Amino acid sequence: MENTDNKKRVLVVHYSQTGQLDRVVQSVVGPLQNDAAITVDYLTIKPQVPYPFPWPFIQFINTFPEAAHQIDCPLQLDITQLYERYDLVILGYQVWFLAPSIPVSSFLNSPVAHKLLADTPVVTVIACRNMWLQAQEKVKAQLATIGAKLVGNIALVDEAGSILSFFATPLWVLTGRRGPFWFGIPRAGVADAQITAAARFGEALVARFSAKQPMDSTVLQGLGAVRINDKLIASEKIGTRSFYLWGKLFLACGKPSAWLRKPLALLYAVFLIAMIVTVVPITAVLKKLTAPLMRGRITKQKRYYAEPSGE
Ligand SMILES: Cc1cc2nc3c(=O)[nH]c(=O)nc-3n(C[C@H](O)[C@H](O)[C@H](O)COP(=O)(O)O)c2cc1C
Repeated sequence: MENTDNKKRVLVVHYSQTGQLDRVVQSVVGPLQNDAAITVDYLTIKPQVPYPFPWPFIQFINTFPEAAHQIDCPLQLDITQLYERYDLVILGYQVWFLAPSIPVSSFLNSPVAHKLLADTPVVTVIACRNMWLQAQEKVKAQLATIGAKLVGNIALVDEAGSILSFFATPLWVLTGRRGPFWFGIPRAGVADAQITAAARFGEALVARFSAKQPMDSTVLQGLGAVRINDKLIASEKIGTRSFYLWGKLFLACGKPSAWLRKPLALLYAVFLIAMIVTVVPITAVLKKLTAPLMRGRITKQKRYYAEPSGE
């Protein structure tokens, strides 16, 4: 479609399984949608073969190699009602195994993304358990490849905290129930208050358009769009490396349907749980012990991962 009026055009690209991420995105987009000078269009990413929800356990584990290696899945993308170019793209994604979800990664590798996002300001919106730093690094690289300009990142994480969400989030995606669960395991997902408060980011985007100022990386600064948990930086790096290397072994066995990948997935699940219950606390303790010596480095790392919005 051609752009014939003077309205600012915003495209929202999103993929969510439970609808939580869609609620976050909708909270951000609300103020834009309520402004008569702005048009908002949507592009829902649909895998040709939908991923299940809730996830069968083996299929859940067996998905990490394709996620870690960013191997595309075929998508159904209906762009017939969309404009050729937008003034802003809001990209909502969830994290799968420290990488963007396969549907979103596949979208970013597609010619459609090249067409719609090149030379366009992009704000990424993440809702995940709490480990999103390495996924965002991958998204940053994909956006750079297609020539999109990342101007902001909003990341909301599960309210249960690092330790309890390690139980609550998998229980949610494997059973479809959000909890609270037995043994005091709290409800999974992002707090409702945080989702509602995400409207402040949409208000900042509207203010920028209304002031006719460029949509650049200052737009979400000072709004607490992200919070960097420096204790997770090392675990995420180790986890990404592990997913990548083990992923190679899985991929060498064939497609996800290859029979050999099922027992391998079971074996890997045991390894993964052992890794998480050892590596995450060990790196967190090491981080705490070495913190006085590493203060400068940690500050630098936190600043880097918080870009472009800042904490
Ligand atoms: C296959 C899979 C892998 C996941 N891996 C991660 C992860 O590495 N880090 C994280 O913080 N959350 C992870 N999650 C949680 C999701 O990011 C997200 O919070 C949850 O799936 C709900 O998303 P939705 O409401 O958009 O469907 C994973 C979820 C799934 C289904």
